[in-house]
Amino acid sequence: MTMDRRKFLELAIYGLGSVVGISLLAPIATYFLSPAWKKHIEDWVLLGETKKIPVGKPTKIEFIQRRKDGWMTVEEKRTAWVLTRDGKEFTVFDPRCTHLGCPYRWDEAKEKFLCPCHAAVFDVDGQVISGPPPRPLDRYDVKVEAGKLWMLPTLKEKV
Ligand code: FES
Repeated sequence: MTMDRRKFLELAIYGLGSVVGISLLAPIATYFLSPAWKKHIEDWVLLGETKKIPVGKPTKIEFIQRRKDGWMTVEEKRTAWVLTRDGKEFTVFDPRCTHLGCPYRWDEAKEKFLCPCHAAVFDVDGQVISGPPPRPLDRYDVKVEAGKLWMLPTLKEKV
């Protein structure tokens, strides 16, 4: 079987056109599809003005966390416990008990964090006093900038 010159040139032109077309479309398609493949990048979350956070007692703070999911931004209402002894240094605890994740509360009279699920007790620094939790309360990284407290909503490595 032989191919005449006209047929060969026709196939070569179509082939070359296809290669050029694909090489032009690939970057454009990548540009539009890349948000769907991007991993979520954690951002600092504003907890509030430092001067509004009471000194010496843990305070439960609500905040909005925005999370990118492909092209969508999802907002979640979350909480954290904030402690400062001097209004300059801050500790932010995850609000879930380190046993099985129940929300604990601060008991003003006992000056302890109490978890109702299995009767765990933590001191003001999040250390386990009694009960089944295997480790102290989990903490978040924090920073203070221009009188505002920021938190990185990724838990520090668990001890
Ligand atoms: S979940 Fe808190 S003690 Fe079990």
